[in-house]
Amino acid sequence: MKIAVLKEGADEPRVAAIPETVKKLAAKGYEVVIEQGAGQRAGVSDAAYEEAGATIVSRPDAVSSGDIILTVMGPDPAELKGAKKGAFLVGAMAPDSRGAEIGGYAGLGLEALAMEWMPRITRAQSMDILSSQSNLAGYKAVVDAASLYERAFPMMMTAAGTVSPAKVFVMGVGVAGLQAIATAKRMGAQVSATDVRSATKEQIQSLGAKPIFVEDVEGIEGEGAGGYAGETTEEYRQAQAALVSDHIGKQDVVITTALIPGRPAPRLISDEQLAAMKPGSIIVDLAAEAGGNVEGCVAGQVTERHGVKIVGAVQLSRSLAGDAAALFSRNLANFILAFTPEGGEPDAESAGDSGHLVLPEEDEIVAGIRLTRGGEIVHERLRAMG
Ligand code: NAI
Repeated sequence: MKIAVLKEGADEPRVAAIPETVKKLAAKGYEVVIEQGAGQRAGVSDAAYEEAGATIVSRPDAVSSGDIILTVMGPDPAELKGAKKGAFLVGAMAPDSRGAEIGGYAGLGLEALAMEWMPRITRAQSMDILSSQSNLAGYKAVVDAASLYERAFPMMMTAAGTVSPAKVFVMGVGVAGLQAIATAKRMGAQVSATDVRSATKEQIQSLGAKPIFVEDVEGIEGEGAGGYAGETTEEYRQAQAALVSDHIGKQDVVITTALIPGRPAPRLISDEQLAAMKPGSIIVDLAAEAGGNVEGCVAGQVTERHGVKIVGAVQLSRSLAGDAAALFSRNLANFILAFTPEGGEPDAESAGDSGHLVLPEEDEIVAGIRLTRGGEIVHERLRAMG
């Protein structure tokens, strides 16, 4: 099979393959073509791809020749006219907000695979784009906060006196939150953190940070399906708000990362609580695109309320395009290689032809990410959404 890697749109510097993954895919018998200039903004030249065994082609050639089309963000279906019927389109598809586009892929006869809907099972960890990109976003959120904060992070004892360490509070301790805690600790801050999942308490402690948790309230577990958080009870929300109000006034930097899949982000900081913060404090809201954890947060902008700067962080991993592209590309290659049987497609027609993607219907991963097939939307969740 031929794998085609597309150049992304103007606002997307990442790319869906790097020379290392090209080599791995080629070693399994895939032929790889790369759209001219696809890796440029992630620091990968066309020559580096060629050296790894790929061929550089024009956009129309990439679209029309790929049996598997790799992309970071699913493109507008209009850009995929001329693609092979039955070709796989692999990447982030944002299916919750791009119903019309997903319908467009079905109309083109493409088999769209949404990598962000990868099930959270051990076997799929190396294919999880949400984890790989959230990890980088958690790091970058702290670095961005430090550069906006007009004081130092670590404690410094100098001849002119002591500089106090910054107090950093992380709300939501998933993949991004854990990396934010680790980064803030490395930079010398005093770190505390909270989550609804009680399992995170130990993780927070193991990173040397202080857990701030609601105790003795019914429904505090908040544990939803597949390792994700669920909605909390009203009683829990009130107890959490009281705890946060008390803690937040003493903080210098707050990083919020709380998400509930398929729902707006939970509101964790109200305007009233913002008013209780010290002027000059910084909040980076990593849930901005899902509506924000902080009242008044605007996605893609830095706003100021009550003297507090609120960063509405969007796709922070883009600002680390080289690393983000490398991890994303490895996620895609790991997925393809996991579904490439030795000796090629087992059916009679193409038996023996190596480098063949075979996606068994009953596989949990396939069922989780396959959106369209044979001209139709096949994913249950999308069909339920209408
Ligand atoms: P996420 O991005 O969905 O949410 C971020 C964090 O916000 C979560 O820890 C969540 O519990 C928390 N949160 C939600 N509502 C909250 C509220 N009202 N107040 C405070 N915190 C709230 O989560 P993420 O980063 O994707 O990870 C969730 C879990 O899944 C982690 O334990 C992670 O290790 C696990 N995971 C497992 C994978 C696998 O096995 N393949 C892959 C990725 C993650």
